[in-house]
Amino acid sequence: MNTKQLASELRSIAEEIAQSVGQEMHERRSQGFSWETKSTATDVVTEIDTWSEEVIVGKLTSMRPSDGLLGEEGTNTEGTSGVRWVIDPIDGTTNFLYGLPGYSVSIGAEIEGSPIAGAVFDPIRSELFSASVGSGATRNDTPIEVSGKSELSSALVATGFGYDPERRKQQAETLRTVLPAVRDIRRFGGAALDLCSVACGRVDAYFELGIQPWDACAGSIIASEAGALVSIGHMSIVASPAIADPLTALLEAAGY
Ligand code: IPD
Ligand code: CA
Repeated sequence: MNTKQLASELRSIAEEIAQSVGQEMHERRSQGFSWETKSTATDVVTEIDTWSEEVIVGKLTSMRPSDGLLGEEGTNTEGTSGVRWVIDPIDGTTNFLYGLPGYSVSIGAEIEGSPIAGAVFDPIRSELFSASVGSGATRNDTPIEVSGKSELSSALVATGFGYDPERRKQQAETLRTVLPAVRDIRRFGGAALDLCSVACGRVDAYFELGIQPWDACAGSIIASEAGALVSIGHMSIVASPAIADPLTALLEAAGY
């Protein structure tokens, strides 16, 4: 089986699990849940994050027992197949806690650190985003593409903030450079859906300092298959192609 065929199979698995777990997660929310904080006093994990990761890992392990697994809530196992699943059981946990839209289940698959397939399910809008390498990106089975925006000055740009106060000071400082140079900034609350929003043209670009592998894995293949330029690293930038360079230059001017 070649990589494109393998990626297509992994995409179907990610779609099925993200959608079923996302729907049940949403139902469980209405029944109440406990939560606690983890890395800082603002970084929340709920019992439904933990439940979601357990269910996703259980399903993946039974379907693909030789694959590796990495999940935000502690899963980290080596596989033998060369495929590793990278899971955010709830991306946008703060939104989930408050009952705001913008949270999702994110399941990506990578080979040697490169995402090749993934699915992100938004239970509030009933939207399933997915992609696999070489086969394009879809929302609820309809192909999607980036906005094609050509001017940074009229670009709507999403970003996010981490949980560490020192990092937040840097992020606030960066906004002083970016905000006057773009149409506006959006902070929706979930990086996975931010990347899907670039993919379907709801925003023109996204940047964020210091995101984690589980925030980006599925969303980055969805965005790149939709035509975005994707750079995930210390400063991640995902943009409709013509504004990637000017946004990168602006962020470099802000010190990155
Ligand atoms: C967070 C969200 C948020 C982003 C943070 C992430 P979590 O993930 O994606 O939008 O700004 O950097 O940590 O904690 O909700 O899974
Ligand atoms: Ca999470």
